[in-house]
Amino acid sequence: MDNKIQFERLVIAAYRLPFKFTKLKNGYKVVQNSGGLVSAILSLSQNFKKRSSYIGNNKIVWAGIAENLPDNFTAKKFENEFFEIAPVNLPQKLNELFYGGFCNGLIWPLFHYFPSYSVFDNENFKAYEEANLKFCEEIIKIIKPGDFIWVHDYQLFLLPEMIRKKVPDATIGFFLHIPFPSFELFRLLPHHWRGKIINGMLGADLIGFHTQDYTQHFIKSVKRTTGFECLQNVIYTPKRLVKADTFPIGIDYEKFHSACLDKHVLAEKQRLKIHLSDQKLVFSVDRLDYSKGLLLKLKGYELFLERFPGWQSKVVFNMVVVPSRDNIKRYEKMKNEIESTIGRINGKYSSLAWRPIIYQYKSLSFNELVALYDLSDVGLITPLRDGMNLVAKEYVACQVENKGVLILSEMAGAAAELNEALIINPTDSTEMAEAIFNALEMKTAEKHSRLERMQNRIATYNVFTWAFDFFNQTFNTKEQQRLISVRVIDKNNSSQIASAYQNADHRILFLDYDGTLVPFSKYPELATIDRSTLEIIRKLAEDPKNQIVIISGRDKNFLERQFKEMNVTLVAEHGYFIKSAGSNWETTITIDSQWKEAVMKILIEYVNRCNGSFVEEKTGSIAWHYRNSDPDFALLRLHELRDDLAEIIRVSHNKDIEILEGNNVLEVKSGKYDKGQAALALMKNKHFDFIFAAGDDKTDEFLFKVLPASAYTIRIGLSSSFAKYKVPDIPFLLKLLKGMEP
Ligand code: UDP
Ligand code: G6P
Repeated sequence: MDNKIQFERLVIAAYRLPFKFTKLKNGYKVVQNSGGLVSAILSLSQNFKKRSSYIGNNKIVWAGIAENLPDNFTAKKFENEFFEIAPVNLPQKLNELFYGGFCNGLIWPLFHYFPSYSVFDNENFKAYEEANLKFCEEIIKIIKPGDFIWVHDYQLFLLPEMIRKKVPDATIGFFLHIPFPSFELFRLLPHHWRGKIINGMLGADLIGFHTQDYTQHFIKSVKRTTGFECLQNVIYTPKRLVKADTFPIGIDYEKFHSACLDKHVLAEKQRLKIHLSDQKLVFSVDRLDYSKGLLLKLKGYELFLERFPGWQSKVVFNMVVVPSRDNIKRYEKMKNEIESTIGRINGKYSSLAWRPIIYQYKSLSFNELVALYDLSDVGLITPLRDGMNLVAKEYVACQVENKGVLILSEMAGAAAELNEALIINPTDSTEMAEAIFNALEMKTAEKHSRLERMQNRIATYNVFTWAFDFFNQTFNTKEQQRLISVRVIDKNNSSQIASAYQNADHRILFLDYDGTLVPFSKYPELATIDRSTLEIIRKLAEDPKNQIVIISGRDKNFLERQFKEMNVTLVAEHGYFIKSAGSNWETTITIDSQWKEAVMKILIEYVNRCNGSFVEEKTGSIAWHYRNSDPDFALLRLHELRDDLAEIIRVSHNKDIEILEGNNVLEVKSGKYDKGQAALALMKNKHFDFIFAAGDDKTDEFLFKVLPASAYTIRIGLSSSFAKYKVPDIPFLLKLLKGMEP
């Protein structure tokens, strides 16, 4: 699996280092931080050497914040056999605004579908940028050529782009450990924050998510925020292609599974059993967080006690809540609510000999955790929203005797893989109560078969498979970038084109208009050419050795207004009309436009069915533009429209009707003409010793295809093309054109 992987060191950037220091009377204690990110990356780090024989010197460096790092504690002393650390220091005030404010006061609730908890504050965003910059400075200090930089989670959205700006060739991966929400939620962020977050992430080569839904949500947000072309999971930014993909994070299955037989865990189990006597154990462990649905879990359990009184005294629910963010008001308030609810339920149902809920607000040691997973009869994992939820996977891994049943919320990313669990909706207390009952009553054979399937899956796609899959995909993406970059014009090609131009006496230059000379606007009439671009064209057009052809899908009047009194040939409507400098518009094409009425009717129907789209009528064609519509919705309508048009074409018996698809536009025309045919007509019986063509769209491919091999054909953007070369954007092309004149 890891045979393609080659890097020197793995440099991890995450908000926290995996351990924090807690002050004791005399000295310090080092304690593991809680949360899925730390658990997974720590497991990976600790067994990395064993699993990664292909990796350079096997070193891992972990950059993050070290809480309470004692003054006399150097990074060196904190290093262990598994990784080096690079502590990042943030002033306390900055950290409060960054971590408490932007990360946990806005991104966390918004991305977990609690928009009403989100606080939008400019100061917090500034702190977020500043903190990401501090991480960037630290990373730049430590990285060396050949390192793989892996940035983790929502605290560091801006970091990939910041690193990329300093080290353009760096290998950077980004992984999001929480959900990426639907665009309807993401768009609640102010425009410029949205742009910065998306572009920040796009600084990476590969962006990973836990589920396919999160990946799709992200891609949609990229489309809506930047307008970049996205084909399947590949995003074509002007400079590089970036991939977004799904990698459901795993656990170190072996570590958990085999720990159940460890003598310390067995001893712990023995100790716990004494307290349980013959009662069944329902167990849950969650960080203190509103996303974990802790109050709803209590509601479900209470209803279970009420609906199934036969189980009273025979079952105990051990609810462990791991302290987290409890200096944030909302968390503190929730903790009080949880504790009073538990008090109320215990007060209502307890007897001298039995308490229905045993509540612990603390971190568990690894051995305690494994013993509880193993010993319990039901794992009750019911978050309202969770990126993945590793606890669910750990619970399954620890069922060595296969006697436990997992109840899992459908809102956890893990539900996509663990579908043999009893899947419930955590807001439905009745469903939860019944699931607890069914789990307790489940026959051994059924328990076994459900667990076995889940165990097979998570034993195979474990945390190592996950990481190496991610590394592999990053290197594949790098390779795709390399193949494209071979065709991106560099200084050498530019000067080669310029000298071919200078050595030629009969030149023809075909220049598309929209997306090539002028950026797209909300409406076509707004995309007028600016003075400096016009000046470049004017200079080229004044050279008697040149024939400049503006070749466009635009209507003739618009083109004429943009290039009036210039010595250029205009090709309008993809070749329907041609006008040489100083002459009138001409056409050699005769069309039967009877079809137009029926097509117009359909297109108007689609304007009504797809918000933001509009129709443009030209002499020989009608275009349906959808650049201002929701891209995914427009795509759906586009499929339907193609079908409807195909039907019209079929019944019209007009073999000349064609559908032409361009950038956010579908055009219906009749007659077999296109930009390629128009170009050939203009070159007929003439000799040119320099042929140049630039365009950004599918319709320009007709041109690239028909020109001779000696022509310099250039596509703007990185999409696949028949063109010989690519340039990243319009300014790049204009510079190239400007550089041609001596
Ligand atoms: N965990 C922990 N301390 C504890 C109990 C559990 O760090 O006292 C670990 C647990 O083993 C799991 C992680 O915390 O690996 C929780 O990850 P999960 O994905 O379930 O949720 P998150 O906390 O990331 O939201
Ligand atoms: C989740 C997040 C992590 C975060 C962890 C603990 O797992 O994905 O990024 O570190 O919770 O939260 P905390 O705020 O204590 O770091």
